[in-house]
Amino acid sequence: MKTRVQATCQSCGARMPRWVGRCPECSEWGSVVEEPTQVTSRVARDVTLEELGSHDPDASVRTPTGIEEVDRVLGGGVVRGSIVLLAGEPGVGKSTLVLQAALALGAAHDVVLVCGEEAPAQVRARATRLGPIPDAVRTLQDPELGAILGALDAAEPSILVIDSIQTVFDSEIPSAPGSVTQVRECGARLARYARDRGITVLLVGHVTKEGAVAGPRVLEHLVDVVLQFDGDRSGGVRILRGLKNRFGSTQEVGFFEMTNEGLVAIRDASAYLLADRCGNQPGSVLAACVDGRRPFVCEIQALVGERSTASMPRRTSIGVDGARLPQLLAVLHRHAETSFHDRDVYVSAVGGIRAAEPACDLAIALAVLSSLHNVAIPSDVVAFGEIGLSGEVRQVVGSDRRLAEARSVGSKLAFVPHSCAIEIDGLEMVRVRHVRDALEQMHDRW
Ligand code: TYD
Ligand code: MG
Repeated sequence: MKTRVQATCQSCGARMPRWVGRCPECSEWGSVVEEPTQVTSRVARDVTLEELGSHDPDASVRTPTGIEEVDRVLGGGVVRGSIVLLAGEPGVGKSTLVLQAALALGAAHDVVLVCGEEAPAQVRARATRLGPIPDAVRTLQDPELGAILGALDAAEPSILVIDSIQTVFDSEIPSAPGSVTQVRECGARLARYARDRGITVLLVGHVTKEGAVAGPRVLEHLVDVVLQFDGDRSGGVRILRGLKNRFGSTQEVGFFEMTNEGLVAIRDASAYLLADRCGNQPGSVLAACVDGRRPFVCEIQALVGERSTASMPRRTSIGVDGARLPQLLAVLHRHAETSFHDRDVYVSAVGGIRAAEPACDLAIALAVLSSLHNVAIPSDVVAFGEIGLSGEVRQVVGSDRRLAEARSVGSKLAFVPHSCAIEIDGLEMVRVRHVRDALEQMHDRW
């Protein structure tokens, strides 16, 4: 084996023969570093091929983690010998979630928990608040790859939890822990080892807001399942999504709230989001949303400021798509004879949720118009529909789920795209072709 130097982009993982100032793959500046790599010369081995049809399709054994929302996103539990990456920004609750999973799994399985981020005593202190601590959960403080493999040989656990993959390093690889080379090589070694032995691995991986940090990106190809944990660190709903799942759908999402006893599932997201609603105020309307397959109803609030002579009016959005808001206002200007050029506009989705799908356009438009005209829309009115550049209201996916959820939170009137043919008992439909129709309906009714 000989060693040579190779340049690797720390942002996207692209490899190139020598250092350059800007990565040709991802166009990031200053992200390329030179790292030594080992080169081996391979010879062909004798192998046996098997017919595809000869394999048992039901051979994968699923182990429920014991956390219902996590199991739903996984498609029923973790598959034996698979690698699951839990990615998210610092502080979102990854360590808490994997620790809760480790404690729950420890009731019936041997678990090895690699504590690379925090001392085991700290993890123990945190675990105390999360639930009973089974004897079958054992910790390893040393995140060096050789130590981890040694622990697996000795303990032969069925579950390995590593918090985080960025702390894991192979002391035989000269680059620093957390570098793309370390993350990729250690990830690949662990994946191979786990698959061979039927050990299920849960990896925590940090990503920054830009999703740029070494690790999760290069790991995505290597692991079987990528779960993304998102949410507002200052409270509000935290959402677990499947970005990739070799064993199930990526359409399921889990909603959590961070409490003193750790992450608690929010079963009824709409009730949670609407709990403190005032209702019957100008500038507020409900939006019927879906995230993956999961419907929820949230409140969209808008505040349109008084006329001002400021040269640049403000456009502030929280929880809705900030890029779509100016576009929507331009459409309302052109097609609904309402001008915002001399007014500040603030829009938010209440409850720390993201209602960023285009399907929220109609609710945002109604909230903005309701604030501008100082017309209160009754609190049992809900809306969904995408608004195109000509002001037309377009149909969106999941209308049936949206409307069923709206009905279940007590909505009585729904503004929907004209082509939406669904009828639901107790829910009056206002089918609108155009934002102008929506504005007219608002004035006629209230
Ligand atoms: P943490 O799981 O450490 O986030 P990550 O591993 O993604 O960086 O937890 C995030 C925050 O949650 C942390 O600031 C402390 C808080 N927290 C609670 O509010 N309640 C709890 O029971 C726990 C364990 C943490
Ligand atoms: Mg952590």
